[in-house]
Amino acid sequence: MKPVRKAIIPAAGLGTRFLPATKALAKEMLPIVDKPTIQFIVEEAIASGIEDIVIVDGKSKRSIEDHFDSNPELENNLKEKNKDEMLKLVQETTDINLYFIRQSHPNGLGDAVLTAKAFIGDEPFVVLLGDDLMQDKTPLTKQLIDRYNETGESTLAVMRVPHEQVSEYGVIDPATQITEDGLYRVKNFVEKPKPEDAPSDLAIIGRYLLTPEIFEELEKTKPGKGNEIQLTDAIDSLNNRQHVYAHEFKGDRYDIGSKIGFLETNIEFGLKHPQTKDKLRAYIKELASKL
Ligand code: G1P
Repeated sequence: MKPVRKAIIPAAGLGTRFLPATKALAKEMLPIVDKPTIQFIVEEAIASGIEDIVIVDGKSKRSIEDHFDSNPELENNLKEKNKDEMLKLVQETTDINLYFIRQSHPNGLGDAVLTAKAFIGDEPFVVLLGDDLMQDKTPLTKQLIDRYNETGESTLAVMRVPHEQVSEYGVIDPATQITEDGLYRVKNFVEKPKPEDAPSDLAIIGRYLLTPEIFEELEKTKPGKGNEIQLTDAIDSLNNRQHVYAHEFKGDRYDIGSKIGFLETNIEFGLKHPQTKDKLRAYIKELASKL
């Protein structure tokens, strides 16, 4: 069995939910306290043992490439001022094996993944979506890789969501629960069903481990929900020729793709950040007393 070494991070979305901030700036560069959201995603991949990462980006995304590049002027300035800690922060994002593909005409998540076919080749790989930030003792991507090493099959991360929210997600129709710690065989994968049609409350949450056969399915996949090529539809077809498992995530998930989720995440991370936690706690208490 080939090891899982490569990751795709799709980042070609227009970020319309964060306009006007995202008119000229990639939404993936919006910070959680002081770190761009995409850096959290890249760090999860690296902490899971991934060696090569391709970011599929689009227009107005140059800032992502610059963020992971060196910045000699800034680095020299920090060196001269002996700001070693800051220098470390600036330099640690540059020694990662990152590659970029620019998607000229974004046509859905499935289409974004398909553009990385040549980069991935004939290997299993992971996909990490930037709108979902995960925290757990073992990174979620590593949990999926561990599952793959047991089963040799594709595995998606799922999580229970409130029933009225299922239409925002891909949802699974579970067949059997194979292990007590939440590994499922799946009958069907459905993209954004209406709550009344949803086969379960187990939603796909933006981490996928896929075998390379997914590319053959993506090439055959017709536009689905929103008239876009949906990764969920290709996965549903893949499940007819190989098993695709679902792994239930039990850690913390932050939805940083919505305004409210983004604000909540900033507050929670701000309450943990050494430079902000004390002042922020005092401020929130004072503010709450006035609400
Ligand atoms: C995408 C997928 C969906 C998945 C979701 C997770 O939707 O198409 O199946 O549940 O990510 O965040 P999007 O949120 O990009 O519309």
